[in-house]
Amino acid sequence: MAEADKQDTEKKDFQVNVPMQTPGFFLRGAAHLDWGMKNRLSRIFNPKTGRTVMLAFDHGYIMGPTSGIERMDLAIPPLVPHVDCLMCTRGAIKTCICPTSNKPLVLRCSTGATILKELSNEIIGVTVEDALRINAAAVTTQVYIGGPYEKETLANLAALINEGNRYGIPTLAVTAVGREMVRDSRYFGLACRVVAELGAHFVKTYYCEPGFDEVVAGCPVPVVIAGGKKLPEFDALKMAYKAISQGAAGVDMGRNIFLADDPVAMTQAVAAVVHKNQKPENAFEMYNSLKADHARSK
Ligand code: R5P
Repeated sequence: MAEADKQDTEKKDFQVNVPMQTPGFFLRGAAHLDWGMKNRLSRIFNPKTGRTVMLAFDHGYIMGPTSGIERMDLAIPPLVPHVDCLMCTRGAIKTCICPTSNKPLVLRCSTGATILKELSNEIIGVTVEDALRINAAAVTTQVYIGGPYEKETLANLAALINEGNRYGIPTLAVTAVGREMVRDSRYFGLACRVVAELGAHFVKTYYCEPGFDEVVAGCPVPVVIAGGKKLPEFDALKMAYKAISQGAAGVDMGRNIFLADDPVAMTQAVAAVVHKNQKPENAFEMYNSLKADHARSK
């Protein structure tokens, strides 16, 4: 036991007068989660800003070859360096994204519907084992509050949360909107609160006005906004700015990025709004200047 003897004679320094740090956690609603959950959430949300720019390109799972991402292998990789996180299906990640990219993935786990039928009639189609195999940072499914399959989509969410909790994988709840639903703060406030109460660790919903600040305030976990239908670039930046100013913790944007005239420039402009609180006018100027640079270097 020569090594043990040597250790006994070494001077140790326990710094007994320095209290052990007990830091809080930067994300709302996550202070009491387990280490693995917090670690995964810290990959999705930038701990410095508490926000995230997620790139959503899961549209194909219900819409097939969606405009702008007909070729995910060409459209998505140039955007990856400029976002915090990817949101897509396992088919997309395995075929179109290089594993060396090391971007955290929020994995779309629902299936069962396409645009040809009732969208809310979904099930969970991905096992938590496969999510772990892919090294997903979080799993996701959507709920259709007030839709024909409201109960089933809530059950899908609860099941995904239960499975994720077993392994420390957080769940993103997406509040999809049925065709007949009014897109107002009352509806989104209800949907966001319900999924948070079921145990979702963060929520994706749509920006609405007035009252988006109350949607966020009534939801005890971080809220990120979907981009929705393609808007003119300035309007999309304005929407992101208003959402962030009213408490959103980021965006999970698809069409307003990959259908932009210059998707790489748009990603960077959105990131400036989210992480640097840039006003939409400044972000749009940045967008135009990057776009002009890219055009010159072609
Ligand atoms: C819907 O199919 C998906 O959840 C999309 O990821 C979501 O709608 C966000 O994409 P977009 O910004 O295009 O609305």
